[in-house]
Amino acid sequence: MSFEIAVLPGDGIGPEVTAAAVAVLKAIGRKHGHAFRFSTHLMGGAAIDATGEPLPAATLDACRRADAILLGAVGGPKWSDPSAKVRPEQGLLALRQELGLYANLRPVRPHPVAMGASPVKPHLLAGVDLLVVRELTGGLYFGEKKRQADRASDLCEYTVHEIERGLRRGFGFARARRGRLASVDKANVLETSRLWRETAIRLGRDEFPDVALEHHLVDSMAMYLISRPRDFDVVVTENLFGDILTDEASLLAGSLGLLPSASLGDGPRGLYEPIHGSAPDIAGRGIANPYATILSAALLLRHSLGLEAEALEIELAVSAALDAGVLTADLAAPGQSVSTQAAADAVLERITQHCQVAELRD
Ligand code: NAD
Ligand code: IPM
Ligand code: MN
Repeated sequence: MSFEIAVLPGDGIGPEVTAAAVAVLKAIGRKHGHAFRFSTHLMGGAAIDATGEPLPAATLDACRRADAILLGAVGGPKWSDPSAKVRPEQGLLALRQELGLYANLRPVRPHPVAMGASPVKPHLLAGVDLLVVRELTGGLYFGEKKRQADRASDLCEYTVHEIERGLRRGFGFARARRGRLASVDKANVLETSRLWRETAIRLGRDEFPDVALEHHLVDSMAMYLISRPRDFDVVVTENLFGDILTDEASLLAGSLGLLPSASLGDGPRGLYEPIHGSAPDIAGRGIANPYATILSAALLLRHSLGLEAEALEIELAVSAALDAGVLTADLAAPGQSVSTQAAADAVLERITQHCQVAELRD
């Protein structure tokens, strides 16, 4: 099979971690006889520097033509002046909106070796397996923004249609997993959250009576994620809450450098990126953790290309590399860390040693 993959390395550690994920995809393609055709495009701060725009038309066109898009990260201090007219992050938001990618999946499944890097006690982490479904193209991110010298506002707006389609993805994944959905809102304060909760109750009753639905306010959910993470299966929430809760949830897995994401719309095309940012504090040193981006490439194979076995093979190879203690600085004990390249190589080795992969299955 032949597939077009658009690669947007972006800024900071983006180019370092996407290079690792592309190498893994190439190895999987060679091994299974898939022709993955890669094209690389400007995005974010790098695109602002080259063209003045964070999402140039040529990049958007290439993404529309592609079967799937792999993105590193955008942003950094160079473009972070609060008074700047153009920002790298605007490009990412525009891409998500232009492609109608309203459902952002962020799975969290701590690996025993990486748990050691988590500030959460190990007995709370065993058996944690949750999927956060974050609504991605509505809410505060996309409402009207106003700014005067002495005041500013961001409008938080949601339509029933936007809420329904996000929630349906949450219910659908819950049905396919352990049948439990936690819907997170701030219905004690926000009108948008009351609409969200009403809609969740209605969909649960009318379309998903087999899914056990519970509701949590976002502030207590932030606490429950740490105090009893095992109690959750699928968590569905609005855009900003999902952004914040998943950086928090990354600590269950041990590091922000381990969490992948898939951004999906109604069709097969998706955008795949680690949940972390451009990590300016470590960029250019070859020490970033590439596993989140490699795991995002696995989600790309699963959700956009329909290559489930190949996706699983990548996930098992990352898991085996972790088992072997191949850890970047965010996870390793002092003096024990390996480079981005060495971590990527450990995954590649396990993919090319065909026979061992099956044995690594738990
Ligand atoms: P960040 O996620 O870039 O970094 C937070 C911390 O986590 C840093 O200490 C960083 O070194 C560490 N970290 C992140 N990824 C890592 C990895 N793969 N390996 C090892 N350590 C890792 O968040 P920030 O510093 O708040 O934001 C920096 C820039 O990134 C901002 O401009 C922000 O807007 C942008 N950002 C972009 C995306 C994206 O492109 N999807 C996501 C989040 C933040
Ligand atoms: C993420 C990032 C983005 C978001 C920023 C960079 C716009 O934090 O993908 O989690 O807030 O969605
Ligand atoms: Mn974020």
